[in-house]
Amino acid sequence: MPLTPTGEIVRKAAETGRGVGAFNVIQLEHAEALVAGAEHAGAPVILQISENAVKYHRGLEPLALATLAVAREASVPVAVHLDHATDPELVREAVTLGFGSVMFDASVLSYDDNVAATREVAARCRARDVFVEAELGEVGGKDGVHAPGARTDPDEAAAYVEATGVDALAIAVGTSHAMLEKTASLDFDLITAHRRVVPVPLVLHGSSGVPEADLTHAVEAGMTKVNIATALNQAFTAAVRDYLAANPSVVDTRKYLAPGRAAVAREVTRLLGVLKAT
Ligand code: G3H
Ligand code: ZN
Repeated sequence: MPLTPTGEIVRKAAETGRGVGAFNVIQLEHAEALVAGAEHAGAPVILQISENAVKYHRGLEPLALATLAVAREASVPVAVHLDHATDPELVREAVTLGFGSVMFDASVLSYDDNVAATREVAARCRARDVFVEAELGEVGGKDGVHAPGARTDPDEAAAYVEATGVDALAIAVGTSHAMLEKTASLDFDLITAHRRVVPVPLVLHGSSGVPEADLTHAVEAGMTKVNIATALNQAFTAAVRDYLAANPSVVDTRKYLAPGRAAVAREVTRLLGVLKAT
């Protein structure tokens, strides 16, 4: 199965009421685990690299090329996406490298400045057939400060999509990034209201903090792309921690990263079921 355009995966899922799991790649093992988990589920998947991961690796290209290579070898449709980019230059680089989509995140700006910056990026990406996600009404927690109170207004969201020409929209409906416990309370009426008036697929960020039954309900209410990162790192780290505790003299990094990778793959298979992704 070739590397698949994000738009193809997301639009098909939106049309058929399914969710799409979008999971973050930080190390190569994440990419391998995400694809293995999706293959086991028989579902498409989106591998996403965030601007923060790019900063950690001091550059996009090495991790991007590895992730694209893993995606090309998959037996299910796999898309590669740039997550939470605030720098238009990074978007340009991702497009050049062959990413199927980018998220341009101008959500900290005022409405007018967000529209102006995003419209420009979206026009450039459209010319290269690259699917663009944007965010309106900042989903909290990106700075480590949880702010699940933010909400996106549906009419403003519809106007924003019209003004910017984006292909998908991340909205604030009760989540916050990097939550370690599943205590977020989703506003389902708000999701339904967005679904009625916003003409593009909707994206849920900060999904690790949402109880799993509510993730299923969120997809049923109209969310399509569901971003999950922290929950997978919890599974990865727990497995590594267990291995190191049981094998304190281990030296070979592969010995403890392999159980982490396997734990993430299992979680991905399970979560794709929760999201009705098959
Ligand atoms: O963009 C990535 C996500 O929104 C992931 O958030 O780490 O809270 O699951 P999370
Ligand atoms: Zn996010």
